[in-house]
Parts: sequence; structure tokens; C-alpha cells
Amino acid sequence: MIKKGIILAGGHGTRMSPLTKAVNKQLLPIYDKPLIYYPLSVLMLAGIKNILIIVNKGQLEQFKKLIPSGKNLGIKIDFEEQLYPGGLPEAFIIGEKFIKKDNVALILGDNFFYGQSLGIKLKESTKLKSGAKVFLHKVSKPELYGVAKINKNKKIIKIVEKPKKFISDYAITGLYFFDNKVIKLAKTLKPSKRGEIEIIDLLNKYKNEKKLKADFIGRGGVWLDTGSIKDFYNTSTFVSTIENRQGMKIACLEEIAFYSKWIKGEEIQNAIKFYGKCDYSDYLKKIIN
Ligand code: DAU
Repeated sequence: MIKKGIILAGGHGTRMSPLTKAVNKQLLPIYDKPLIYYPLSVLMLAGIKNILIIVNKGQLEQFKKLIPSGKNLGIKIDFEEQLYPGGLPEAFIIGEKFIKKDNVALILGDNFFYGQSLGIKLKESTKLKSGAKVFLHKVSKPELYGVAKINKNKKIIKIVEKPKKFISDYAITGLYFFDNKVIKLAKTLKPSKRGEIEIIDLLNKYKNEKKLKADFIGRGGVWLDTGSIKDFYNTSTFVSTIENRQGMKIACLEEIAFYSKWIKGEEIQNAIKFYGKCDYSDYLKKIIN
């Protein structure tokens, strides 16, 4: 069982500048809560309670004001700083002491997932014993993402980062499950032309060993990457539409912890005090009443 997860929440933030000049992108709002709540909720829905959040150098205090230790959610949250955004696989080098001998999940801090069977798929993925697993999702602009070509048996036969020429419309989403070899393999990667070590190179190592599995987020599921300002507003609109229609929140961390029986009503009361008078607190009140 994978019991540990990493959220990579650093990055250059240049595409969102000037919004990200003083504040980490993952602390900016997606409708009614900070972006970081969404990837964190995904790991929690997978049943992962031991989480490392990797942030940019100098941004630790910003995050700790919002998410001090995870105790309030019945989970454990550690923080590490990334000195410079040198590439996604650095998560496993920075996180080596956190991962120890275990297998691990990685989610990118700017990824948004939503859909009915998501929790089941996530829990299923934590059963990974060896190799690596990615989630694929059809998109209209595959050239913006890492992309996987699959064969008739839905096995990955080729993966390319942001292909200029069309190879497939299956994007590789920013949620990955790895065995413990990932630490060793990440250390062997060499920087690409853009000066970063690449997740695609890491995944290719697993693919070459026939150890890369794929699962799919079908058309009833939603995956959004909030990389640009436009994506940010589109994702916010999506969350607002669903939440206002259903009267239920997406990525309410305390709600997930409460229904998972990781916290009791008392912790929800404390959360209400922490957030103060706001719509989010009113929602929490409804949960315990
Ligand atoms: O969103 C899925 C895509 O994410 C995948 O399809 C691609 O294969 C993968 O390379 C990645 O592409 P992006 O171009 O979206 O990656 P980006 O550089 O925007 O980084 C994604 C997140 O990770 C973002 O929140 C910033 C954070 N990050 C990034 C790097 C390179 C870090 O915290 N540290 C880093 O060193």
C-alpha cells in the first residue's frame, strides 16, 4: 500500500506573474479556497495520510500559516524547500528522507481532478507494489502536456513531453504512483535542453523495463491543469458552478478528514474558529450539525 505522497508546489510561477511575485501560485484562490487544497484533497481521497509539500525557497512561512502540520486534519504534513525549480523528479531527491524505503505518490501542485469514481481509482492505485503508474486523459491540445501513445491493449508504447508533431491526444496528468526505485532513478537523470530534469525521462526508464502502467480518467472525469491565468479562471468557474448547483464543496479538506473518521466534530469546531466568519466555515457547521 502506498501511504506516502508528495505535493510539488514550487515552480517559477512566471506564467502567472505579477500574481505570483509575492505569493506562491498554490496559495492563490481557485474559487473559494487556495489551489493547494485541491491536490491535497486528491491525496487524502487516496487514503494517503503522510504528506510532504515541497515549496520554493523562502515560501515556507506562507504555507505554514494555512496548513501548519496536518494535525487538524488527522494527517501528517511535512515541508521541504526546493532551492531552484530544477525539474519535477527533484521531488524524489528532495523527498528521499521522507520516502525512506516506501513507495510514493506524486501530485503536481497545480493539478485539479474531479469525478465520481475518482476516489475508487485513487485507492486502487495505492495498491501498486512495483513499477510506476500514470493517469491519462484525452485533451484537445496535447502539445501542451506530456503525452502517451497507447496500443490496442491500452498499454503505453511511447511517451513524449510537449510533442510538436501529433502522436496521441492522451495527456499524462500530474498524478503519479512510483515504487521505491524512483529515488535511485531520479538521481541518474540528466537535465534536458530547458535545463530541468524531466518526468518523461523518468517514466521512460520504467517504460523501457515494461514497468509503466496506465489508467484512464474517462470523459466523465475532469482533469484541469491550472498552469496559466486563463486556466485558473476556467477552473474557478468550474468549481463555482458545481458547488453552487449542488450545495457541496469540492476539496473541503475537513469534510474529507471527517468522513474518513480521521477527525471528530471537535476538530471541525476548531477549524471554524481558525477560518473565522466565512462561507467555508458555514459549510463546516453544516457537516457537524
Ligand atoms: O500538468 C501535467 C503536466 O505537468 C504533464 O503532462 C507534463 O508531462 C509535466 O512535465 C508537467 O508539465 P508542465 O509544463 O505543466 O510543468 P510545470 O513546469 O508547469 O510544473 C508543474 C507544477 O510543478 C507547477 O505547479 C510548478 C511545480 N514545479 C515545477 C518544477 C519544474 C515545482 O514545484 N518544481 C519544479 O522544479
